[in-house]
Parts: sequence; C-alpha cells; structure tokens
Amino acid sequence: MWYVNTIGSKYKYIKAIEEVIDKEVKGTRRVIEPFAGTYTISHLMVRKGLHVISNDIGWWSYSIGRALVGDGKWFGTAVRVVSVLESVRRVPSEGYDRKLKKDKMEEIARRLRENRVRGGRLVVSRGSYDEFLRKVKRVGRGSVVYIDTPKVFRSAKESVFKNFPKLDSWLIGKEVEYELWNESNVREHHERLFKLVSAVGVRKVIVECYKKAVPKVDEIERMMRKYWKVRRAHEFKNDITLVGEEK
Ligand SMILES: C[S@@+](CC[C@H](N)C(=O)[O-])C[C@H]1O[C@@H](n2cnc3c(N)ncnc32)[C@H](O)[C@@H]1O
Repeated sequence: MWYVNTIGSKYKYIKAIEEVIDKEVKGTRRVIEPFAGTYTISHLMVRKGLHVISNDIGWWSYSIGRALVGDGKWFGTAVRVVSVLESVRRVPSEGYDRKLKKDKMEEIARRLRENRVRGGRLVVSRGSYDEFLRKVKRVGRGSVVYIDTPKVFRSAKESVFKNFPKLDSWLIGKEVEYELWNESNVREHHERLFKLVSAVGVRKVIVECYKKAVPKVDEIERMMRKYWKVRRAHEFKNDITLVGEEK
C-alpha cells in the first residue's frame, strides 16, 4: 500500500476515506483528483481498480506521482521528498539541507517500487487546479471528482503549505513561486473551483472539509448547492465529507 505519513496527508483518515470511496465512487470508472499531494488517496483509488487522473501544483507532489507511474527520472527526487516529509512536522522556511537518513531513504525507495502503478491507470500532471480542470474538460465528463483543498485555518494567518515552494526550489534547483491559499483568497478559490468542476460536468463531487478551517463547512455547502444537490456523507473526528450530485 502506498502512503506518506506526513502533516496534511490523509493517511490517518485512510480507513474512513476508504469507506467513503467504496460507497460513493461505485459504478464509476474514472476519478479526477485536482489536489493529489502525496498521492496517498489517488493510489488508494487506483488500488480499487479506478482510472485516476491527478494533479497538484507542487513539483514535490509531481515527483511522487511520476515515480509511482514508473518514471525513473523522478524516482530519486521522490525518495528525497518523502524522506523530508516523513521526517519533519513542517517544511523548514529555508528549504531543506539536512542530511537525510540512508536507511529511511532505502525503505521509501522500496515502498515506491512495490507500489508502482502499471497500465496507464494513473495519469499525473502538475499545475494549478484551474488549468487542470480546463484540460480535463472532455475526458472528465461523467466522472467523480475527489477534492481535498489546501486548508486555511482561522487560527493561523498563513497556509500550512507556505514553505512548499521552498522545497520545490531546493528539489528542482531553480526558484519556484506559486500563489498560496490564505484567508483573503480562500473563498474566491472555492467559488472558482466549484464553477470549473461544474463546467466539466462530473457525475459526483466529493469534498473533504475540516471543521477548524475556513470557509466553514456550512459555507462550502452553500457554495456547492449552486451547482449540485449536497449531502453530508461522512463525519470522522474533525473531518466532514460533503458529496454533491447532479440536481
Ligand atoms: C490538503 S493537500 C492534499 C493532500 C492529499 N489528499 C494527500 O493525501 O496527500 C492540498 C494540496 O493542494 C496543493 N495546491 C495548493 N494550491 C494549489 C493550486 N492552486 N492548484 C493545485 N494544487 C494546489 C498543495 O500542493 C497540496 O498538495
């Protein structure tokens, strides 16, 4: 089983998420994941026999996806990324230069090799969700979209992903910048996201919400109702899963 046990990863919720996927994705062959992160959930869905088209803005995430589909060019980078993610609680603000543990890296390389996906069942791309959703407009029709947005917390001014561009710069050896979600743009991002998903014409939208994040779950529900019939499908600790379906 492929997983990355790090902050922001859905690893600790995997059992609960698996139940949601088993129940909600039944009867669909294709799933789209615009915010794949560590590829923990994309890989889970591939293991369920689904055809998964995934995306994330981070090069760090891209390297994991490409390594999982057997792209040797990205394998070493993915091993370094996962070693960093599993050894720190937060990505440091000045990139990452600490010496990585050799045995940890070997264990991760083994895990990546064992979980390689064959036969084009996982498509990996890198870019912003807007570009991605515009690109999948034709193939995405009738599929299910699984959404785990970058969370913005009321208590913290900045995104937990604020240092990820630094990690990317360190990995690919050139300056990387991208707009992070924060308190002032997070609503606008949700509105744009749902509008684009609705333009793809997906059959079902699964949105992982977090009670302590902004916008509040009620607000997200309201935004989704503009396009879909919405229900609360699952609740586990602070996580609530909203499901939107064609009206
Ligand atoms: C909550 S995480 C997803 C975690 C994932 N479910 C997992 O299990 O690892 C949100 C992801 O959104 C990505 N992200 C942030 N801004 C983005 C954007 N504008 N377009 C696409 N992805 C973005 C981040 O890089 C991060 O990996």
